[in-house]
Amino acid sequence: MKKNDSNIKKAIKYLNNNECIAIPTETVYGLAGNAYSDKAVSRVYKIKKRPKNNPLIVHYYKLKDLKKDCETDDTFIRLYKKFCPGPISFVLKLKKKSKISKIITNNSNSIAVRFPSHPLSRKLLKKIDYPLAAPSANISSSISPVSKQDVVDEFGHKLKFILDGGSSKIGLESTIINLIGKPYILRLGGVNSKLILKFINPLKNKNKKKIKIKVPGTSKLHYSPGIPVRLNAKKNHQNEAYILIKKRKKFDKNHFYLSKTSNLKEAAKNLYRVLRIIKKNGYKKIAIEKIPNINIGEAINDRIARASKK
Ligand code: TXA
Ligand code: MG
Repeated sequence: MKKNDSNIKKAIKYLNNNECIAIPTETVYGLAGNAYSDKAVSRVYKIKKRPKNNPLIVHYYKLKDLKKDCETDDTFIRLYKKFCPGPISFVLKLKKKSKISKIITNNSNSIAVRFPSHPLSRKLLKKIDYPLAAPSANISSSISPVSKQDVVDEFGHKLKFILDGGSSKIGLESTIINLIGKPYILRLGGVNSKLILKFINPLKNKNKKKIKIKVPGTSKLHYSPGIPVRLNAKKNHQNEAYILIKKRKKFDKNHFYLSKTSNLKEAAKNLYRVLRIIKKNGYKKIAIEKIPNINIGEAINDRIARASKK
């Protein structure tokens, strides 16, 4: 515990100096900088090679802090009470008097926000008096990192500090819901979309059907392992890495398992780790077995579909 405390102190020192550092969250590791500082935020964009028009998610410790920057309504409060802190992000209206750097929002009046539940990032956020802008800690369009080593693999020594919080429990990014106007889901993720829809408007269940799921950047290559990915594969070709949802009895050196017994949560946690191992092992192609499209399986299928885009 003492080690964590001294690491948090170090993290704060860097952040106060407008440096960007990597922080652990329950979804994936983030590349964090002071969201009120243009200098810190510019560094995040630069190190990540993120296009300037792609806004960042801002991370808060508590509701009171968020209210300084964002407009909130009943729907938001209901979802906040049910799912926060946790793997869900909200797109809200930015307040005019907010101190959020305009670089984060690309000068627009909306902002994506979330409350991470990882104990170390919460401890860190509690001790600073500004929120943290933190996209996933990977070079733009590649796979998100789920451990300290993954972050090192992405950035080498370009990063001054990585706060080590072990491996990310969920292993996929947060679900993003847009709450400006009629709510819709922007990105599938850690919280199941159907569960969210239940809490949007409990009085009007009819609404459930009308709600849209709009996942951004579907045409763009994203979450890419950098080699071709073949989906719904019944078997693998020669020299192709084969990702399976469930461990098989017969050993095959090209087989990689996402879980022991078709457990989708375990599979989500292992997906990015396994993709990285396959790439490190020098495979030139990947085949993936069909993944059940239920619960977090929805988000897994979203990510592997994008990883397979040419
Ligand atoms: O789990 C997560 O959300 C992780 C951890 C580190 O918190 N963060 C993450 O950030 O995945 P990033 O930047 O890799 O993905 C955020 C997505 C991007 O696709 C971005 O376009 C979208 O959120 N986004 C950010 N601000 C937005 C806004 N104001 N309106 C619509 N989409 C927004
Ligand atoms: Mg990302």
